[in-house]
Amino acid sequence: MTQPATAPTVQRVDAKHRYEILVDGKTVGLTAFRDHDDQRVFYHTEIDDAFAGQGLAALLVQQALTDVRGSGKRVVPVCPYVAKFLKNHDEFAGIADPVTPEVLQWLETVPSK
Ligand SMILES: CC(C)(COP(=O)(O)OP(=O)(O)OC[C@H]1O[C@@H](n2cnc3c(N)ncnc32)[C@H](O)[C@@H]1OP(=O)(O)O)[C@@H](O)C(=O)NCCC(=O)NCCS
Repeated sequence: MTQPATAPTVQRVDAKHRYEILVDGKTVGLTAFRDHDDQRVFYHTEIDDAFAGQGLAALLVQQALTDVRGSGKRVVPVCPYVAKFLKNHDEFAGIADPVTPEVLQWLETVPSK
């Protein structure tokens, strides 16, 4: 397991529709999204194997959801990790919307997702 020398940082990369988490300046994970009107739909989260089990996904998603809340948008947790995170973090309940068949259908139409 690789241990970070400095605190991890999270950044939103709009061009890639994702938030990335960096350790010692290197991207080691991401949570990917697409915007659907005022909803930010999260559909995939991953952390490099070498950095798994250190709470990095939790930090990444916590900061991503904080950013979403700050922008006045709402969250749709298609990604199972984000869905589980929301279940365990009531502080974001007010900005969470359910995953609907309509959203899933729309997500399928998003190019090069
Ligand atoms: C899922 C993943 C992002 C977790 O990253 P991580 O930095 O190791 O996660 P953390 O240390 O922050 O949290 C670990 C928690 O994630 C949970 N978890 C692991 N895989 C999960 C999954 N597929 N769906 C939901 N939760 C998952 C673990 O049960 C653990 O829960 P706990 O805190 O209640 O014990 C990482 O294992 C990964 O990249 N997996 C492959 C891709 C994937 O399956 N992504 C999720 C669905 S899109």
